[in-house]
Amino acid sequence: MQNKRRPIVAGNWKMNGSVELAKQMMDTINSASLQDVDVLICPPFPFLSAFAPFNGAIGGQNLSEFDSGAHTGEVSGSMLKALNCDFVLVGHSERRTDNGESDLLVAEKVRVALEHGLTPVLCVGEPESVRDSGEYFNHIQGQIDAVISVIGIASFEKIVVAYEPVWAIGTGKTASPIQAQEVHAFIREYVGKLDADVANGLRILYGGSVKAANANELFSQPDVDGGLIGGASLDPQEFLNICLAAKG
Ligand code: 13P
Repeated sequence: MQNKRRPIVAGNWKMNGSVELAKQMMDTINSASLQDVDVLICPPFPFLSAFAPFNGAIGGQNLSEFDSGAHTGEVSGSMLKALNCDFVLVGHSERRTDNGESDLLVAEKVRVALEHGLTPVLCVGEPESVRDSGEYFNHIQGQIDAVISVIGIASFEKIVVAYEPVWAIGTGKTASPIQAQEVHAFIREYVGKLDADVANGLRILYGGSVKAANANELFSQPDVDGGLIGGASLDPQEFLNICLAAKG
């Protein structure tokens, strides 16, 4: 396994969790030995400040494309920084669907995140109909092209990509390790045509029904550099076991 990058295991709580769960998660992660893995939790905004002292990183699940002003309900990159976030999820499929976030808006949010010193975790992935039509490479390429057009390829050095096939999110229908590897390799190869060094260092996470039971096989694929975990990140012990699987 050449050129393996430092793994990241990220938990996306979506609109779930509590201060109590934050405390349980901190206790579980803080007492584990996870030096070789970057651990990240993205809870709902109100629970970010509950994560201290935490031996992992925290991140937002979204950020506004604006810095401040009359945008009720929005949270800016500088606000996330003020709460000690190092990361932010951008373009999660649920935001693309529920909030109509376009590829270009997602690209703009990636730019704003970088401007605020946050590492964006750019989420890409195809819905089931696109998978079935066989057009999934084109779909994902389009999502990535939009970001390249706004921030340029060199800035990919500072971002993380998460491949989350929509049909595998919360469905229990995990992509097979071969399916995940195929898309991860495609993304790396595509970025590599523009900048080989950036592609080589780019961390690409897989998300979609990852559990401790399937994490090992997924994470051992050469182009899978960790995971973005939804449901299973609400169970601290299960999440820890996924982190341990990434340790190799
Ligand atoms: P599940 O792990 O619940 O399938 O969710 C994946 C996801 O959307 C993480 O962002």
